[in-house]
Amino acid sequence: MSKETDKLKHIAIIMDGNGRWAKKRGLPRTVGHKKGAETVKEICKAAEKTGLEYLTLYAFSTENWKRSQEEVDSLMDLLRQYLQSDLKELQDRGVKIRFIGERSMLPADIVEKMENLEAATKDNEKMTLCIALSYGSRQEILHAARRLSELAVRGDIAPSDIDEKLFSDMLYTKDIPDPDILIRTSGEQRISNYLLWQLAYTEFFFTETLWPDFNEKQLLEIIDSYKTRERRYGKIEAE
Ligand code: FPP
Repeated sequence: MSKETDKLKHIAIIMDGNGRWAKKRGLPRTVGHKKGAETVKEICKAAEKTGLEYLTLYAFSTENWKRSQEEVDSLMDLLRQYLQSDLKELQDRGVKIRFIGERSMLPADIVEKMENLEAATKDNEKMTLCIALSYGSRQEILHAARRLSELAVRGDIAPSDIDEKLFSDMLYTKDIPDPDILIRTSGEQRISNYLLWQLAYTEFFFTETLWPDFNEKQLLEIIDSYKTRERRYGKIEAE
């Protein structure tokens, strides 16, 4: 049985399989992403209903910039639409929006929309929806290491001040608790440069379901299964 300290607060998801979903139907990959964006809405609502505090979604990785210009443009268009319309709905429901990732690589109009949304929802107290956009975990860790080196060189901190807390505070996910659950859809079993530091003690769940077909029922099944897992964080269970 899970203990109170293991209260489920945070689920992180790698939303994989949009392209294969479309291919199976003889449709362009972009249609798969569009259907995937609808699943994003359904899963957010389902997560809110469970009382979850944080939901982090991998929407676009730093590696995704290497896809065809057509696919990148269509993903950016989808995001634009989402930021404009759907996220307003989330704001009305009291959801707080946060973005993690390398903003300087994103189109300026998208960054502006992201900043507006973060500002507009910052005092909301329901679930925090964290969207990883142009996100790469190794880049995030390097960025933290550079910032800490700068502080040390300036004499603001001593190298011995660098502990897990200070390091975590330099990451994009500052103040967000580590995920309890990681879900990856589509049968792939990789982390793909996602939250490498933050997933240290996370429980992993892999499903064959392609992201556009993932639904509330499957999310709730994973949550139930999580509750039967015993988390030890490297310790031995007390007798
Ligand atoms: C992986 O499928 C998915 C992505 C690279 C993008 C995820 C984006 C969405 C779900 C839609 C937009 C998001 C928001 C927040 C509105 P893939 O293309 O790698 O699929 P494949 O492995 O089958 O080719």
